[in-house]
Amino acid sequence: MALFSKDIKTLNDLFVHTLRDVYYAENKIARALPEMADKATDAQLKDGFQTHLRQTRDHVTRLERVFQLIGEKAKGVDCPAIDGIIDETDEVTGDVDKKEVLDAALIAAAQAVEHYEMARYGTLIAWADELGYRDCVPLLKQTLEEEKATDQKLTRMAEQTLNQRAA
Ligand SMILES: [Fe+2]
Ligand SMILES: [Fe+2]
Repeated sequence: MALFSKDIKTLNDLFVHTLRDVYYAENKIARALPEMADKATDAQLKDGFQTHLRQTRDHVTRLERVFQLIGEKAKGVDCPAIDGIIDETDEVTGDVDKKEVLDAALIAAAQAVEHYEMARYGTLIAWADELGYRDCVPLLKQTLEEEKATDQKLTRMAEQTLNQRAA
């Protein structure tokens, strides 16, 4: 479906569409993270993926709450962007031979996911604010903060240990 199809007429329509997009993305991420945790060889990285899986389940629940607050049914809409990031992760990690390099590849992939989420939540917060959905803003902000913290944690792991180990 084209993003700017005739179904989307107002900022509110766009907000709902983007909410569905990120709802689909979070569910997809929740399915991808166990496999990423399995593939990771570094214990800290493995643990990080498991922790973020638990947070991701909360993100799904929070989005359901947001849908409820605006009187919409919680449902997803295909998000080719997250599908692409996850497909690329599978392809690249499937091609990596050395386990240390695999960990570096997994971190890079996970950070692409986090940045996608950060972009989406940043936009949703701005639109919720504009549309007067005051109760939705703190829920979306809470998730955004967790995505940012995860991204920073991944950067620290990469820069302090795992990149050097892979080199
Ligand atoms: Fe998330
Ligand atoms: Fe995330």
